[in-house]
Amino acid sequence: MKVRWIFIEIEVLFFMIILKSEREIKLMQEAGKLLADCHKEIAQLIRPGITTLAIDAFVESYLSKHGATPEQKGYHGYPYATCASVNDEICHGFPSKKPLRNGDIVTIDMVVNLNGALADSAWSYAVGTASSETKRLFEITKTALYKGIEKAVVGNRIGDIGHAIQTYVEAEGYSVVRDFTGHGLGRDLHEDPAVPHFGAPGKGAKLKAGMVITIEPMVNVGAWQCKMDQNGWTARTVDGSRSAQYEHTLAITEEGPLILTAQDE
Ligand code: MF3
Ligand code: CO
Repeated sequence: MKVRWIFIEIEVLFFMIILKSEREIKLMQEAGKLLADCHKEIAQLIRPGITTLAIDAFVESYLSKHGATPEQKGYHGYPYATCASVNDEICHGFPSKKPLRNGDIVTIDMVVNLNGALADSAWSYAVGTASSETKRLFEITKTALYKGIEKAVVGNRIGDIGHAIQTYVEAEGYSVVRDFTGHGLGRDLHEDPAVPHFGAPGKGAKLKAGMVITIEPMVNVGAWQCKMDQNGWTARTVDGSRSAQYEHTLAITEEGPLILTAQDE
């Protein structure tokens, strides 16, 4: 009993949400704009035959040309500028020299550091012709992201975000990944709070103006469970079904959620 109580206390002590000033949010928005522009360039590059390593190299040079750096490279030893997750890969896929094929799907995830300010956004792309199943998976995953963002308002709780995402995705017959979450973002790429894409309404930390978080639902056609690759990073679906992901970084403001990585689609 006693030991359990100590663990609870430690968890409370180490949970720290760092609020951001308007100036910091403005700088993160500039990083987010660059990231959004980079995603728009990637959309033009994706086609059968291109490798995810070539996309990774493009991103690195694009960012360096614009005075930014890829925050992921070297983060806990992660070796690339981007994560490139193909088909049944859920997240943290390693860019590879295997050419993408017509009908594949690929999620490119990256964190941009511009003048010390960070922004994080992942986007799923169809390679060549998208099947109707791919279109549906993308549509539902993207809608799930925006349903989560809608709940990111002052006074709501973290659980309200995950609940909105999970109920929507499951009603559509897909599943939402539980082993990876959104997160706070600031000086550090992963700050408190964790933002699960499932959960109960009215639970978790209260949302306050000045919080900057990511919402990044990973949606599987089959079961939500994942397995890890030998490389220690890449997660893929346990049943081999496909997985898609859309992620935005957003600031919680008195006026509502401000998407810092918007691509003005
Ligand atoms: N958006 C990704 C995440 O929050 C960024 C991962 S960076 C990595 O998990 F280095 F950990 F891969
Ligand atoms: Co993230």
